[in-house]
Amino acid sequence: MASTPERLQQAVRCLLAGELVALPTETVYGLGADAANPEAVARIYAAKGRPADHPLIVHLAAAEHLAQWAADVPTAAHALAAAFWPGPLTLILKKQDWVPLAVTGGQDTVGLRVPNHPLALELLAAFAAARAPAPAGVAAPSANRFGRISPTTAAHVREELGGQVALILDGGPCEVGIESTIVDFSRAAPEILRPGAITADDIARVTGIPPRLRGGAGEAHASVGEPAPRVPGALAAHYAPRTPLRLAAAAGFDAELARLLRAGRRVAALVVSGDAPRDAGSCAGWHAAPADPAGYARQLYASLRALDALGADFILVEAPPETPTWRAVADRLRRAAAGAGMPA
Ligand code: TXA
Ligand code: MG
Repeated sequence: MASTPERLQQAVRCLLAGELVALPTETVYGLGADAANPEAVARIYAAKGRPADHPLIVHLAAAEHLAQWAADVPTAAHALAAAFWPGPLTLILKKQDWVPLAVTGGQDTVGLRVPNHPLALELLAAFAAARAPAPAGVAAPSANRFGRISPTTAAHVREELGGQVALILDGGPCEVGIESTIVDFSRAAPEILRPGAITADDIARVTGIPPRLRGGAGEAHASVGEPAPRVPGALAAHYAPRTPLRLAAAAGFDAELARLLRAGRRVAALVVSGDAPRDAGSCAGWHAAPADPAGYARQLYASLRALDALGADFILVEAPPETPTWRAVADRLRRAAAGAGMPA
């Protein structure tokens, strides 16, 4: 195995040649390509099996590159970039004219973020240096097949897309574990398109404006009836294991598990606290997730993959609390439940 600096140089050469490089970020692993090269970007869509009108996030080495990619950047967006980059936050902004439509899914907006992972930052900086003074960014969706569980380790990427990438940079398990918060600045008021580790409160604290929240059940600021940009992360059936996944409220979890087992079902269980489910011994397998939202998010996708691999009839998940700090985790679980059993 080559040393890290050699791997990074190799990765830069792959990007310059229009090839695909899987890279670690603090959220999930990305499937990266040169964002300024439409042919390279087309390879991402082909490898993922993703429809070509679904926009990609462009990863930048530093916030100072933002203006090369985005036009008319509002003050509030600058403030968020200054506060949270590098970090798990994506800004949707009006694109500069030159930014290829291939990367924006045909839209006049572009998704931008500076990821907080040392290897990703080194790669992005080296790529930017190789390209300077031209703009350099790495378009990278999560490195999974379209509609499947996002990868949080290099091994997950290898399982899912191994044959299709020129190189996988291994940066260890992802610290955050779920995808970045997406804030859309392309309309009158900022709106959260996808909840993540950076919460609505975090955003309001910096911008002074409580963002609207797209879609979530019972959201006070949901913008019902507004035209929606195409956001695969916003499809109901996303982040899905192959095994049907069901959510059960904490209070009714043991009863629901017992009911499924009595009906002769093989059940894999994911519970919130460290306590074993009452019928743990009769389960195909079970995981106890940390009882704090950050810890839960960090291991969520790895747990779902492992439980999915047991080939049970159901994955039964104890629903986490319905409080704002759990919103991003609850969002991913709801989508996994909606999409469970979908073909890859
Ligand atoms: O944490 C993350 O954001 C990860 C890592 C790799 O950075 N990336 C990620 O990418 O989750 P992906 O492609 O799986 O999800 C990106 C989301 C999609 O739902 C996409 O539609 C949305 O961002 N998006 C990107 N550009 C957009 C735009 N111009 N307008 C609206 N939505 C956009
Ligand atoms: Mg994704």
